[in-house]
Amino acid sequence: MMLNLPEKVTIIEVGPRDGLQNEKLFVPTEIKKQFIAGLRKAGLQEMELTSFVSPKWVPQMGDAAEIVADCLDQNSRDIVLAPNRKGIDRVYSTDCKAVAVFVGVSNSFNLKNINKTTHDSMAELKPIIKGLKERNYFVRACISTAFYCPYEGKINESDTISLCREFVAAGVDELSVADTIGMAAPNEAYSLFYQLKAEFTDTLLTAHFHDTRKLALANILTSLQAGIDRFDTSAGGLGGCPFAPGASGNAATEDVVYMLERMGIQTGVDLSRLMEAIDVVRPHLSRQIESGYYRLHAQTV
Ligand code: HMG
Ligand code: MG
Repeated sequence: MMLNLPEKVTIIEVGPRDGLQNEKLFVPTEIKKQFIAGLRKAGLQEMELTSFVSPKWVPQMGDAAEIVADCLDQNSRDIVLAPNRKGIDRVYSTDCKAVAVFVGVSNSFNLKNINKTTHDSMAELKPIIKGLKERNYFVRACISTAFYCPYEGKINESDTISLCREFVAAGVDELSVADTIGMAAPNEAYSLFYQLKAEFTDTLLTAHFHDTRKLALANILTSLQAGIDRFDTSAGGLGGCPFAPGASGNAATEDVVYMLERMGIQTGVDLSRLMEAIDVVRPHLSRQIESGYYRLHAQTV
């Protein structure tokens, strides 16, 4: 009996954005650039480079304009995040052609993260998305707290699906559906992604798991079986949202790639080059890298 699995999977590397945004100490801009260059060398073709958010709220992303100016590669899908009109105007002053907007299903989380209700964020974003599509941008919508919220607890599947519907009607190209605080169980991941896959047949669907409770690989496995073949992951398992208490790192790119390749699923990612990229940023981090694959690598160098 064989599992129902895809032949290949697309990894969307979120390390330079989700991975670094929660770092306490400012990572020098030059190191971020080398990290991004190293991730590219490892074969990562889709990447969140940075975010155009308020530098008062997230000082680590204060160098977004310089990162985009120096790192943008038109042969890859380089994505930048923007939460509002001001962020989009900053994107328009760059050459970047792929934007991620982000909203929480949970109103309480959205207020903490963006200082607006979910409804008000959507009202602001819908005309923004229309404008982006008229200018031929690739638009990704990140759906936070799709399973659980640090303030409201369990989120109804139907509320997550409704928010996805609003984004798809607004014209986005991709939905990245996130377990922000790493609390989803593998059966919950399967159930939600199975329904999303059945409903949104013309939209790219991506799963974004945080590994707070070490369930990310299990959730990826059940999401694969629900038909998902795109995953957001972060080199070194770095990451977390500063406004989601208890959130820790994303699924580690190296552990996900290792698992998938061992299962015969192609990712296009070169693990030894990925280790080199992580080695560039590691001395500047205020946390340990805990991914299984990196720890083995660190013992051998
Ligand atoms: P606010 O204070 O309500 O904003 O913050 P405001 O509109 O009242 O403006 C206040 C000041 O901020 C003004 O400047 C604006 O110009 C400036 P001042 O006049 O005081 O000098 N401002 C901006 N500056 C730069 N870029 C902007 C921008 N907007 C306003 N875009 C705001 C509202 C949305 C700005 C703030 O709440 C914010 O920046 N939030 C971002 C939080 C964030 O980055 N969270 C992490 C990313 S989401 C995530 O990690 C989840 C995800 O990974 C999926 C998952 O795991 O769940 C995607
Ligand atoms: Mg995240």
